[in-house]
Amino acid sequence: MDITRTSALVTGASRGLGRALAEALAARGAKVALVARELGPLADVVAGIRARGGEAHAIAADIADKDAVHRIAGQAHGLVGELGIVIHNASTLGPVPLRLLLDTECEDLAAVLETNLVGPFRLTKALAGAMVLRGGGVVVHLSSDAAVEPYPRWGAYGVAKAAQDQLSRVLAAELAETGVRVLAIDPGEMDTAMHAAAMPDADRGALQQPDAVAARILAMITDEARAPSGARLVVPAWSAA
Ligand SMILES: NC(=O)c1ccc[n+]([C@@H]2O[C@H](COP(=O)([O-])OP(=O)(O)OC[C@H]3O[C@@H](n4cnc5c(N)ncnc54)[C@H](OP(=O)(O)O)[C@@H]3O)[C@@H](O)[C@H]2O)c1
Repeated sequence: MDITRTSALVTGASRGLGRALAEALAARGAKVALVARELGPLADVVAGIRARGGEAHAIAADIADKDAVHRIAGQAHGLVGELGIVIHNASTLGPVPLRLLLDTECEDLAAVLETNLVGPFRLTKALAGAMVLRGGGVVVHLSSDAAVEPYPRWGAYGVAKAAQDQLSRVLAAELAETGVRVLAIDPGEMDTAMHAAAMPDADRGALQQPDAVAARILAMITDEARAPSGARLVVPAWSAA
């Protein structure tokens, strides 16, 4: 995968890891379509990328909105062309402070699943066909250690991330031989708004910075031998080659 000659779509690109990924991709020469719900912060990220000579475009949309999926896909193709990289990064914790699973409303669990699982799946369904026809591309799902560890109070989020991990593996199996790679990547703990919302008392100085995590994720995307389709990768465990 040659990032300099590709186009990418990053969801949740207005702050945190998504922003760092979009900026890192653009700095390497990729054309980038950025998705988030709120246009203002997204437009600021786009303006910053353009000021540094990169190509970026904002798409204001809610990935949990069924009716927005084909608009996102159509706008992305129109703005940056055929996509080589799709990064499903946008995600929600559900209600905070985080609750025990039995105290979680069924509607809140369903809403977390819509944003963290069903929405990304709809978007992949809208985009993967073109990748298969071209015979290449990478789809990345941002996972979490909450997908594999049964942390109390992380139930709704963890269930959605665990399901997304399996979605990633099954898609990879079904797309074997097409040239399209599908990865699940646990970024590890980062100093972001999501982390602050979940754990306001955490020592922020001990957390990874999103820019450093984004650089490692780009290394995973470009290193097919060490990051084969179907893999679930953990950023803090990834050593520089
Ligand atoms: N931070 C950590 O320590 C950590 C640890 C493990 C895994 N992760 C995972 O890493 C990824 C990035 O996390 P982060 O900490 O960078 O998150 P963050 O700071 O909360 O940023 C989330 C981004 O997603 C967007 N977003 C949220 N809901 C959306 C929706 N329904 N539709 C479109 N965009 C939406 C937000 O913008 P709008 O609000 O404007 O939509 C924002 O740009 C997530 O998948 C998260 O689960 C994070």
